[in-house]
Amino acid sequence: VISIRDFAMGDIYRARNLLAQLGYVLDDREFTNRVSAVRSSKAHCLLVAENKGTVAGLVHVFERPALDKPLAAVVQALVVDIDQRGAGIGEALMHAAEEWARKRGYGSVALYSGVTRSDAHKFYARLGYELLATSNLMVKRL
Ligand SMILES: CC(C)(COP(=O)(O)OP(=O)(O)OC[C@H]1O[C@@H](n2cnc3c(N)ncnc32)[C@H](O)[C@@H]1OP(=O)(O)O)[C@@H](O)C(=O)NCCC(=O)NCCS
Repeated sequence: VISIRDFAMGDIYRARNLLAQLGYVLDDREFTNRVSAVRSSKAHCLLVAENKGTVAGLVHVFERPALDKPLAAVVQALVVDIDQRGAGIGEALMHAAEEWARKRGYGSVALYSGVTRSDAHKFYARLGYELLATSNLMVKRL
C-alpha cells in the first residue's frame, strides 16, 4: 500500500540516498542544509511515498512566481527507489504534487528533465506532460 505524506526530519538519511540515486551525492551537512532551506519556505512542498512501511520515493514541488509566465508549480525533484520502480509510486507522488498545485489554484505544473532521461520523459508523457521547449542550462561559478 502506497501512502504519501509530508517529509519529516527522520526521513533525512533515506532521502539523501534517494538523491544519490538521482545522481546527486551529497554529504550529510550539505543535504541537511538543503532540506532545511526547502522546508523553511511555505512556497515549497516536500513529500515522501511510503510503501510497506519504508520511504520509497520523494517529490519536491514549489511555487514559481514569474513575470513571463503565470504562477505555476514546478516539480524540482522526483525519484523512486531503484528496487521499487514500476509499482506506481512515481505516479502517486506526481498526483500528490499536482493536488498540492491544484489546491493553491495554479493552472499548470512544469518540470525540467535532463535530455538524457528518456525513460523519465516517457513516464511524464504518460501522465499528460507535454514537451514545451528545450533550453540550455548556463551557470557562472561565484
Ligand atoms: C521516473 C520515476 C520517478 C518513475 O517512478 P516509478 O515509480 O518507477 O513509476 P510508476 O511505477 O508510477 O510508473 C507509472 C507508469 O509509467 C511507466 N513507466 C515507469 N517507468 C518507466 C520507464 N522507465 N520507461 C517507460 N515507462 C515507464 C510505467 O509503465 C507505468 O505504467 P503502468 O502502471 O501502466 O505500467 C522513476 O523511474 C525514477 O526514480 N527514475 C530515476 C530518476 C528519474 O529519472 N527521475 C526523474 C528526473 S526528471
